[in-house]
Amino acid sequence: MSSYTAFRIHQDEEGHRAGIEPLTRSEPTEGEVLVRVTHSSVNYKDALAGTGRGKILRTFPLVGGVDAAGQVEDSRHPGYRPGDQVIATGWGMSFDHDGGYAQILRVPGDWLVPMPEGLDSATAMTLGTAGLTAALAVHRMLVNGQRPELGPILVNGASGGVGSMAIAIFAKLGYEVVAISGKPRLHDWLRTLGAARVLGREALAGARRPLEKAQWGGAVDNVGGEMLAQITRTLAPGGNIAAVGLAGGHELNTTVMPFILRGVSLLGCNSVDIPLPLRTQLWGHLADDWRPPRLEAMLTATVGLGELPKVFEHMLAGETHGRILVQVD
Ligand SMILES: NC(=O)c1ccc[n+]([C@@H]2O[C@H](COP(=O)([O-])OP(=O)(O)OC[C@H]3O[C@@H](n4cnc5c(N)ncnc54)[C@H](OP(=O)(O)O)[C@@H]3O)[C@@H](O)[C@H]2O)c1
Repeated sequence: MSSYTAFRIHQDEEGHRAGIEPLTRSEPTEGEVLVRVTHSSVNYKDALAGTGRGKILRTFPLVGGVDAAGQVEDSRHPGYRPGDQVIATGWGMSFDHDGGYAQILRVPGDWLVPMPEGLDSATAMTLGTAGLTAALAVHRMLVNGQRPELGPILVNGASGGVGSMAIAIFAKLGYEVVAISGKPRLHDWLRTLGAARVLGREALAGARRPLEKAQWGGAVDNVGGEMLAQITRTLAPGGNIAAVGLAGGHELNTTVMPFILRGVSLLGCNSVDIPLPLRTQLWGHLADDWRPPRLEAMLTATVGLGELPKVFEHMLAGETHGRILVQVD
C-alpha cells in the first residue's frame, strides 16, 4: 500500500480542523517499525486532541490516536519481523508523532509491545490506554501495600474507560469495589462489571473537614478537583489513591492531614511513558490474571475513522460509557 488513509489534525492560520486524508507511506529508518494498523480506540485525550478543545498535540499536522494495534509490515528493529502482532500506546503518539488513527503507523520499535498470548488486536484495543492505565493504577497501589483488609476501593468516573476497567480488575482481585458515577441509568451495568455498590457524584459532598470518617481502603481517581480532595479526607490509614485523571478538574485543594496523620499515599499514574519492562508486564496481566471477565460488556461501540468527530463530541459531552473500538482497516 503506497498511500493510506488517516484521521489527521491540523492547527494553523485557518484554525483547528480534523478529518480523513490520504497520506503517502514512507519507509522505516533504522530502529523503526511499520505497522499495518487494524484497530485503535477512543480515549478522553483523543477527544480533546481531535476537537482541539485540549492542548494535547505539540506539533501540527499530526495523525490522531494514542492507541494502535496491528501487524508488522516492515521492520528495521531487531526485535520485530513482518507478521508480528503488536500493540502501541502512548509515548509520542498524537503528541509529537503521528498516532494510531491510520492504516499505517511508523514508530520506533522500542515503543511497541508484542501482542501477549490470549489477546488479538480487537481485544487489545478494547482494553487500550484505558486498560493499561487502570492496570498501572492497580500495580502502583499493590506495590504500595494495598490489600482487601484495608477496606473497599472507590472508583470514580466509573462509567468511563479507565473507571470501568479499574472496577473490573479490582473486583477480579477480590476487592470490594464502590463506584461513583453521574449516570444513574448505568448503575446496573457497573454492578455487572464488579461494583458492589454504586453511589452518585454527590456522595462525598459533605466531606469538607481535613479528616472525615475513613470509608475507603483505596481509590482510583479519574476526576480530580474537589472529588479528589474529598477522597483524601475519607481514606483509611495506610490507604492509596491512584491519581489518574482530571475529568472534573485539575486543581487539588486539600490539607496535609491525611498524609501525615493517616499515612495516605497519593500515587501519580502516567500511562504515556511507562518503561517497556513494566509496560510488557502490565499487558501480560491484562491478557491473563487481570483480564476483565466481562470485556465484551465494556465495549459499547465500534466505529470507523469517519465517525470519530461525532464520537469525540459525545465523549466530551459525557454521553459515552465504557470503551469505543476503532476499526481502522
Ligand atoms: N494518567 C494517565 O495516564 C491517563 C490515561 C488515560 C486517561 N486519563 C485521564 O483519566 C480520565 C478518564 O479517562 P477515560 O478515557 O476513562 O475518559 P472517559 O471514558 O470519558 O471517562 C471519564 C468519566 O469521568 C466522569 N466524569 C466526566 N465529567 C465529569 C465531571 N465533570 N465530574 C465528575 N465526573 C465526571 C464520567 O463518569 P460517570 O458519568 O460515571 O461519573 C465519565 O465517564 C480523563 O481525565 C483522562 O484524561 C489519564
